[in-house]
Amino acid sequence: TKKKITVIGSINMDIVTNTNILPKIGETVLGKAFHTIPGGKGANQAVAAARLGADVNLIGCVGADTFGQELKQHLAKQGINIENVEPVTETSTGTASITLFDGDNSIIVVPGANYHITPEYIEKFEDMIAESDVVLLQLEIPIEAVEKAVEVASKHKATIILNPAPIQPLSKELLSKIDYITPNEHEQEMLLTSFDWTDEERNEITKKCIVTQGSKGVSILHGDALQIPSFNVDVVDTTGAGDTFNGALAYCLSIGYELEEACRFANATAALSVTKFGAQGGMPTLLEVEDFLKQKGEEIR
Ligand code: RIB
Ligand code: NA
Repeated sequence: TKKKITVIGSINMDIVTNTNILPKIGETVLGKAFHTIPGGKGANQAVAAARLGADVNLIGCVGADTFGQELKQHLAKQGINIENVEPVTETSTGTASITLFDGDNSIIVVPGANYHITPEYIEKFEDMIAESDVVLLQLEIPIEAVEKAVEVASKHKATIILNPAPIQPLSKELLSKIDYITPNEHEQEMLLTSFDWTDEERNEITKKCIVTQGSKGVSILHGDALQIPSFNVDVVDTTGAGDTFNGALAYCLSIGYELEEACRFANATAALSVTKFGAQGGMPTLLEVEDFLKQKGEEIR
């Protein structure tokens, strides 16, 4: 049977302003372009895995507003099962105000409906989580919901990947149930230094980490530490590169890739995604990744 991936996380509308000049506080400048496009770390990671052909469930919440409707329609079109994305009336759909400056970005997220995901809400979907080979999470929903999801997923022996973004304090108990943690360099630093770990705990956590390092590639600290270089591409927009990596990693692990080849494949997937505008723009299909790897002279399986 086809492997199943369940992503539990945020769904946002990305409100993107492209500019050559960054305003200071109190200043007004003229920007270059404006777009509203689908985003949210949960949704992005779900789309990345679905484009590769994975069977993906998404558990989340949107607001009972037009952004929420548009996002649900969009996700359904990507072939993602969104039967468990519920609209809430109390608040608006999550948004991310993104300033795109010279290919790089700064982001303000207002979680809105994403923060209505409660542990009770997660519990309703235990059956779906139980049938999943891989469960993929981020930190744009309440930590209590993440903790519940991890508890249920580990009870049912799913492989659990946590992308700790945006970074926040995490409990020992939570981290002990997770198989792979995928911080970027900043998140890794925070994860290991700002909380009160014993050396042994820090070591345990480090061994679960796959650290994404942008154009430098990724560093696997799991098992024998290993650096996997990235691919050289023309960067248009790095928004969602980490999400693409995580979605691809989940896909590869669900179909039985070894970690090293999974990271190589996920690197290629992320590299292709940054060549196009938007978090989900440029997320490649399986064929596109295979072609790219062939072009780069990499072995594919
Ligand atoms: O990781 C990129 C995403 O972060 C954007 O799509 C935005 O919605 C924020 O959640
Ligand atoms: Na992109």
